[in-house]
Amino acid sequence: MERFLVEGGRRLSGRVRVRGAKNSALKLMAASLLAQGEHRIGDVPNIADITTMRAVLERLGCTVESRADGEHIGVPAEPGLEAPYELVRQMRASIVVLGPLLARRGRARVAMPGGCNIGSRKIDLHLKGLERMGATIGFDHGYLDATGSLRGTDIALDWPSHGATENLMMAATLAKGATTIENAARDPEIVDLAEYLTKMGAKISGAGTQTIVIDGVDGLHAASHDTVPDRLEAGTYLIAAATAGGDVLIERARADHLDIVLSKLADAGAEVDETLDGIRLKMSERPKPVDFVTLPYPGFPTDLQPQMMVLCALASGTSIATENVFENRFMFVDELVRMGADIRTEGHHAVIRGVHELQAAPVRAPDIRAGAALVIAALAAQGTTEVTGLANIDRGYEALEDGLGALGAQIVREAAAPARAS
Ligand code: UD1
Repeated sequence: MERFLVEGGRRLSGRVRVRGAKNSALKLMAASLLAQGEHRIGDVPNIADITTMRAVLERLGCTVESRADGEHIGVPAEPGLEAPYELVRQMRASIVVLGPLLARRGRARVAMPGGCNIGSRKIDLHLKGLERMGATIGFDHGYLDATGSLRGTDIALDWPSHGATENLMMAATLAKGATTIENAARDPEIVDLAEYLTKMGAKISGAGTQTIVIDGVDGLHAASHDTVPDRLEAGTYLIAAATAGGDVLIERARADHLDIVLSKLADAGAEVDETLDGIRLKMSERPKPVDFVTLPYPGFPTDLQPQMMVLCALASGTSIATENVFENRFMFVDELVRMGADIRTEGHHAVIRGVHELQAAPVRAPDIRAGAALVIAALAAQGTTEVTGLANIDRGYEALEDGLGALGAQIVREAAAPARAS
C-alpha cells in the first residue's frame, strides 16, 4: 500500500513529455495476435494495464520483451485460445483479444471482463458485431466462448463504442469479404490501430470517420509501429496547470486531438498555444466557470471529466458538467466534497459552485482518472493531501508524480501509514 503526499498551493511551471497512449498501446499489442512473427511497438507506457496485457499475450503463447525501442512481441503460428479470469478481471480492455483470436484461430475463450468501477460497462456491441460476422458465442462458467469462421458484413453500432469498433475492425481484417462498420468510434487511437493494421497488410479505409470499411485479406505479417501520444495524459497536465495556475509546455501533445478540451480551457481563462514541440498553457487568474458535456470523440472526453470538475470546483462561478458516456462516473465527487468542493449531482448532471479554496484531506483514488483528478485537487488545495489507492492511478499513468514533478509539483510517493487500531 502506497500513498502520495501532495503539497498544495504551488503554481506549475516547466515542461513534460507525454508518453504513448495507454488506450492505443493496449490494442496495438492485442492486434499483434493477428500475425505470426516478431512485432515491435514503440512508445508503450510503463503502466500496470500494459503489464496485464503483456501477461495476457504471454498466456496466449507469445513472447514479450521490453527493449529501448519498444515492446518486441513474438507471436507463434498458433496462439493459445484462452484469456483467463485472473488477468481479464484486472483489466476490462483484455476483451480486445477476442476479435483477433477468433479471426486467427476460429475460436476464442475470454473471461467476462471486470475493470474500472465506473458503471456497468457492457460488451454487447462487441458480441453482436462478431455474431453478425458469423461467430457463435456462448457463455460457459464466466467465460465467453466464441467459434466460427468470420465473413464480411455491414455492422451498424447503436453507440460509437471505442472498444467494439477496435475489436470488430481487428476481426474483420482476416474475414472473408468486406466489412463496413457504421457509427464507428472516431478516436485518434482507432486511427492509430488502423495504421498499424495497414502496416501488417490489412486493407482499411475510413478510420477516423463514422464509416470504416475493411476488406478481408488471407493473411497479415508482423510490423513495427510507434504509439500515438497520449491525449489523456496531456489533457491531465494541461488541466492541472489551468487549475493550479502556471506556465507549462506539454511536449508531444497533439492539439488536433484535444480541440474541445483546449477551447474549454481557453474559456476558463487559460492562454493556450500550439507550438512546434507541443502545447503551451499559461494561466494567471482564477478559472472562470465552464459548462461541458462528455461525448464520444471528438466530444469532450469522459476520461478528462473528473479532472475538469476540479477546475470547475475552483472557478469564479457555477459550472454544469454532463456525463453521457459512463454511469457512476461521479463517484469521486464525494472525495472532492470532503476537500471543500461544492458539487451537487443529479443523475448524469453535476452542478459545481466554485469555491475560493480546497483544503487538504485524506482521499482515495477510486479509478484511474478520478485518481488523477484528486491529485490535481491536492495540487491546488491548502496544505498537504494524502492520496491513497495509487494502484488505480498506476494502471493508467506512468509515475504521475514524476510527470507533474517535472512541472514543479511536490509529490512524494511513500509506503502508506498502517491503519491505527481503534
Ligand atoms: C475506452 C477507453 C476508456 C474511455 C472509453 C470512452 C480503453 C482501454 N478504454 O473504453 O478509457 O473512457 O473508451 O472513450 O481504450 N457500451 C455498451 N455496449 C458495448 C460497449 C460499450 O453499451 O458493447 C457502452 C459502455 O457501457 C459505456 C459506453 O458504451 O457506457 C462507452 O464504452 P466504450 O466506448 O466501449 O469504452 P471502452 O472501449 O470500454
